[in-house]
Amino acid sequence: MAWKTLDDMELAGRTVLVRVDINVPVEDGRVTDATRIERIVPTVRDILARGGRPVLMAHFDRPKGRRVPSMSLAVTLPALRAALGVPVSLAEDCIGAPAKQAVAAMGPGEAVLLENTRFHPGEEANDPAFAAALSALGEVYVNDAFSAAHRAHASTEAIARLLPACAGRLMAAELAALEAALGAPARPVAAVVGGAKVSTKLDLLGNLVARVEHLVIGGAMANTFLLAGGREVGRSLVEREMLGTAQEIRARAAAAGCTLHLPVDLVVAAALAPGAEARTVAADACPAEAMILDVGPATVAALAAVIDGCRTLIWNGPLGAFETAPFDAGTTAVARHVAAASRGGRLMSVAGGGDTVAALHHAGVADDFGYVSTAGGAFLEWMEGKVLPGVAALDGQGR
Ligand code: 3PG
Repeated sequence: MAWKTLDDMELAGRTVLVRVDINVPVEDGRVTDATRIERIVPTVRDILARGGRPVLMAHFDRPKGRRVPSMSLAVTLPALRAALGVPVSLAEDCIGAPAKQAVAAMGPGEAVLLENTRFHPGEEANDPAFAAALSALGEVYVNDAFSAAHRAHASTEAIARLLPACAGRLMAAELAALEAALGAPARPVAAVVGGAKVSTKLDLLGNLVARVEHLVIGGAMANTFLLAGGREVGRSLVEREMLGTAQEIRARAAAAGCTLHLPVDLVVAAALAPGAEARTVAADACPAEAMILDVGPATVAALAAVIDGCRTLIWNGPLGAFETAPFDAGTTAVARHVAAASRGGRLMSVAGGGDTVAALHHAGVADDFGYVSTAGGAFLEWMEGKVLPGVAALDGQGR
């Protein structure tokens, strides 16, 4: 893949349409986590510093082609202004007269945010006419929204063919980190995959067994693998219909020379409740009335040894029910081990996905990983080996 970056573009005096992903969590009308907003700052500042006129395009939530007032991007403005440190005005529509007027009124050193692109059905339909209406507002297109790049939408895909297009700083950083983790990684590579369901991560597991030396399976997904291997899992969450698939993945891993790592001990309790009485049992000794809620210390030690033998690690999905103490212990301990190895420069570590990032923050180590992606669905699809339409659209516009 070859895409241009901001360095390849003429920006002075130009109106630059920047696709950003500021689809941030909001509670009671306030942004509760501004990470995605903070991550677009380098791109917007760069454009301003070079005399460009940044016009931000973004979606918020899923209004499904209708104007839904509670899904206005207005809620992001205070956080956006604080992060960018420049005046930002909101155009009340992303195309047509309101957008044109807001762009025309923009002074030097200012930015415009266009209202939610998903208020128009043409956005999700990747409609060429809607993309043309967006492109009419500017002269250069910058995609800085890796986390929305798995969507073939007008503001992420079709528009890239209508204007000189490049990747923004965040997009370039995401792509570089992901390339370092799975494209041409330093080997051996370990992938840690957790979460509840095998069924949602089938493509991911299938792709990984062929590309990594060690595949660590945690979370409730591991229960399905344990049961498929003849272990008792008590009242734990399992997908009985996926038992055959789990066996198949195990066989594919063996054929590909990928070592599959399942928990060797388990933290179990009668129920998932804060402070529930927990005990540690061997992986083949889950009591009939118990639920598996975390990996135990022997598993943590085994995984630490695997990590110490690897040079690259990629992580998606927690190892246990980390939101509820004490079942956060396994995820936290492994996250801290990865962080320590990453700090020492021995390991390139990349993590992504909402739950995973929350777990790293919970463990206090998000800043110590090599790279923490802001993407959820896009990160997963990229790990599955899929081509992301928003990235593909930048390709071929290459140097
Ligand atoms: C995300 O939050 O993962 C992106 O903003 C994409 O949102 P979507 O899943 O609604 O397309």
